[in-house]
Amino acid sequence: MPNLYWKNKEIFEKPKTHENQIIYPFQILESVRSPTINKFISNNELIQRTTENNQKSQFKVNGWDNLLIWGDNRNVINSLIKIFSNKIKIIYIDPPFATGGNFKFKTLIGENNAFEVTKAYSDTWSGGIDAYIEFLYERLVLMKELLAEDGSIYVHLDWHISHYIKVILDEIFGKENFRNEIIWAYPAASAKTRRFFIRSFDSILFYTKSSEYTFNNDPGIYMDYSDRVKFALKEDDKGTFYYRGGSHNGKKLSRKVYIQENGIFPRDVWTDIPYIRANTLEYQAFSTQKPERLLKRIILASTNKDDIVADFFCGSGTTLAVAEKLGRRWIGSDVAKHAINISRKRILDIFNSKDLINWEKKYKKNPYPFKILSVNKNLQDINAYDEFLVNNIQKLKKKKLFQDIKFEIKILKDNNKVSIELLDYFVPNLDLIENRLKKKIQSFSDWIDSWTIDFNRQNSYFNMMWISYRTPKNRKLDLTSYRYYYEKSGKYQISVKVIDILGNETSQEYEISID
Ligand SMILES: C[S@@+](CC[C@H](N)C(=O)[O-])C[C@H]1O[C@@H](n2cnc3c(N)ncnc32)[C@H](O)[C@@H]1O
Repeated sequence: MPNLYWKNKEIFEKPKTHENQIIYPFQILESVRSPTINKFISNNELIQRTTENNQKSQFKVNGWDNLLIWGDNRNVINSLIKIFSNKIKIIYIDPPFATGGNFKFKTLIGENNAFEVTKAYSDTWSGGIDAYIEFLYERLVLMKELLAEDGSIYVHLDWHISHYIKVILDEIFGKENFRNEIIWAYPAASAKTRRFFIRSFDSILFYTKSSEYTFNNDPGIYMDYSDRVKFALKEDDKGTFYYRGGSHNGKKLSRKVYIQENGIFPRDVWTDIPYIRANTLEYQAFSTQKPERLLKRIILASTNKDDIVADFFCGSGTTLAVAEKLGRRWIGSDVAKHAINISRKRILDIFNSKDLINWEKKYKKNPYPFKILSVNKNLQDINAYDEFLVNNIQKLKKKKLFQDIKFEIKILKDNNKVSIELLDYFVPNLDLIENRLKKKIQSFSDWIDSWTIDFNRQNSYFNMMWISYRTPKNRKLDLTSYRYYYEKSGKYQISVKVIDILGNETSQEYEISID
């Protein structure tokens, strides 16, 4: 079989497995079990949920928490292999495409639709295409170890790189396990060029680990009938719809073809899924965000309930949100902290998102428990805020710039009931931040994207009990928390964490006594 060679390929000729990799320990940053979220819960419910905070996971698999991991996915996968080897049912990845560009996201400010555009991540590779292939090859080899024997991997790419990656996927997973090149065509694509045809599709390469794999004929994956069929539909006396068509031995027939309610079994060209628009509920202001409908078809086809779905380039968390709503367990990771922050809010806000089975309805369920972890060894965060800093700041100064952020709160205590009010937020070194951003900040709360409280901090990690956050559609932030009821007297540690619109995270601790 022909193989692809790239610079330094020899180093990888014996693909690295986790055995010759360094394994970094996970750190738990936050545990989210059943937090009370300001947006939709009545007071009575608040009290009830406060006591439910230690609820057990509702998955059949005991003790499972979904995982959102901040870190370079090479380290993340290495650290997962010990526990999850051969356990993950599906991996969907949508890595950078080697476009040579920078991806943007909108930093939304305050309540009045103010925003600034910021770099989300860079897709330039100083070592060119060789460096990109090396990056992905190494990670794909490791991902294969995580896949269950009946598992599948979907690699989402486009014309920039898909043909190279097809060859290395053949090498890693075996040519015989290549199932489809799915063409996701977005009909409304537009471009100014008149020098070549407008590029309007992505390729999703679908491989399985073996020939025994899960693939469900689930009506939820079906495609809509084409307009040609829809226009030709007739109704018979029983009220069932059919069209005339079909062929046999190359001859056209005009027999009745009855249609199924859910559409047709999908072909490998998907034209029925539009790109995300800003006016949709799922929009996260993240430029490479993929539609939930796309992930719905993939996940329903290749997994069953409770199976583990992983996305190691999770971005705004589309795969995780879809897995959550379809009752699958999920693991997501991203190297950019702001992507983790967006995914975290997206899962927390899942109650208000669209139901995937009935698109007219909202999902209206709270998320299953999840944990936020990190494997931060040598992690170089992509500083989303770099573009807001005045030029020529020395590196060291930049590093220290946001270290001294502080906020002020007031603890409102009424016997054993405690709530917290956020009073102020101080960003030091304001002179080093660009005016274009500062001009849009009208009050201290405009700096804040979310804030959260652990009323009874006991562990090395934060247990989210209450949170208020802004989403692209709901910009309101509550500055006073709900009232937490302490059941026993004693001394308690309260931890308050604020994440600002630049992604800076600041925690402060307080002690209170309950009589
Ligand atoms: C194309 S976006 C994914 C978008 C996602 N599918 C969605 O629907 O929002 C690619 C993501 O990969 C992340 N990324 C790039 N290199 C990474 C690495 N080495 N480890 C983990 N994540 C990485 C980027 O930060 C970015 O969020």
